[in-house]
Amino acid sequence: MKQALIIGASGQIGKMATTLLLEAKQHVKALVRDKNKLSEITNPGLSITEQDLEGAFSDAFAGCDQVIFVAGSGGDTGADKTLLIDLWAAAKAVQYAKAHQVKHFIMISSIGADDPEAVSGDMKPYIVAKHLADKHLIDSGVPYTIIRPGRLTDDTASLKISTVRPEDENKLKISRENVANVLLHVVTKAEPNNQIFEIFDGEQPIETALS
Ligand SMILES: NC(=O)c1ccc[n+]([C@@H]2O[C@H](COP(=O)([O-])OP(=O)(O)OC[C@H]3O[C@@H](n4cnc5c(N)ncnc54)[C@H](OP(=O)(O)O)[C@@H]3O)[C@@H](O)[C@H]2O)c1
Repeated sequence: MKQALIIGASGQIGKMATTLLLEAKQHVKALVRDKNKLSEITNPGLSITEQDLEGAFSDAFAGCDQVIFVAGSGGDTGADKTLLIDLWAAAKAVQYAKAHQVKHFIMISSIGADDPEAVSGDMKPYIVAKHLADKHLIDSGVPYTIIRPGRLTDDTASLKISTVRPEDENKLKISRENVANVLLHVVTKAEPNNQIFEIFDGEQPIETALS
């Protein structure tokens, strides 16, 4: 049975991606700290594993051929959690994926993670963590797709995106719903061919933009 492990399934994008994948008849294993956060999802294709990313969570990978890492420490925590979740938990997930011979690791990274030196201010530790987590995946030998969204918004999904960075800084953004739909596309239709791309709200249907 093909099954996708979603790490951070109780988060905003994680929950949307879980729902979309289940609606598309995919089997999903959701890794969460608190299973009550998914209590409204009652789809037989869903299994839930309760784990804290600050501990060991290798067991979660059993029987999963694809992994989506969409967890994050969030903007309200300090540099300690940035280190422990955005970098170290992501790096551990890559190692577990390798040990379990996962066929496709999909990382939600961030715009800017390609070049942390170009970033200054409060965001820099987070961007450094994302950069190093991506590098760990690239160097691991696990087939990957690294997705680098612009600033996330709560707008409704337009289902239209761009992979070309807009010149207008105000347009360096994408709705979480659009990101979740990109994940649906990548899990169900894309080959794991070690691609890295940025995504923004745009003008093209997701399939066209990613073709
Ligand atoms: N904000 C932006 O503008 C932006 C831009 C580009 C990329 N991103 C990336 O987008 C991704 C997701 O964004 P989002 O808005 O969906 O985030 P979110 O709602 O804050 O979700 C974060 C998820 O990580 C989980 N998590 C955190 N610490 C954990 C731990 N110790 N053990 C288990 N789970 C843990 C949370 O679990 P709980 O539900 O238990 O808290 C939650 O499921 C992140 O990777 C973020 O770095 C964000």
